[in-house]
Amino acid sequence: MRSLFIQFTTGQRQLYSLLLTALLALVSVQAHAEQTTFEKFGGKPGLVLIVDDMMLNLIAAPLTKPFFDNPKKDFIKFMLVEQFCDLLDGGCKYPGRDMKSTHAKFKVGRAEFNSLVESLQIAMDKHDVPFTAQNQLLAKLAPMYRDVEAGSGPVPTSTNSAK
Ligand code: HEM
Repeated sequence: MRSLFIQFTTGQRQLYSLLLTALLALVSVQAHAEQTTFEKFGGKPGLVLIVDDMMLNLIAAPLTKPFFDNPKKDFIKFMLVEQFCDLLDGGCKYPGRDMKSTHAKFKVGRAEFNSLVESLQIAMDKHDVPFTAQNQLLAKLAPMYRDVEAGSGPVPTSTNSAK
């Protein structure tokens, strides 16, 4: 009895598998191109992982450690995730205070600000956020410097000082 299955030659099989691979590659390029910036951060779960790492970096960095190595860090992480999600049009409404009153009781300088940005960049790199997407978030944070540095309080000097 004749087989019901279509018989392919080795050459045909190779050609079809090549075509299938090319098609799958095209579909994946297309899907990537259609991702929003928020999706390039991995959505909200991605932001949570990035901000977790950012906070570890902030506490490891000498300039920012005094500000963040205290029990308030979990609350700040939560607020940063909501704020970044809002800035990236991820469908969140940042529920926190404005940047001027939040940082009013601290003296934050350019060096501390740059150190925070570096902690964020290292975390975004670790989580493979594409460069263009990273820059989109950084461009929204950069103008906040004016409000963050407007404070006039003391620089916290020890753990648990920034309650
Ligand atoms: C673009 C830069 C920054 C952003 C977007 C940012 C964002 C935030 C947010 C969302 C909060 C929580 C707001 C709330 O309590 O409702 C916060 C709190 C805080 N931030 Fe920043 N921040 C920035 C830069 C910095 C820098 C450079 C420092 C110090 C090195 C700093 C130190 C703090 C501290 C100590 C708190 C807790 C304030 C408190 O105890 O009430 N921030 N920040």
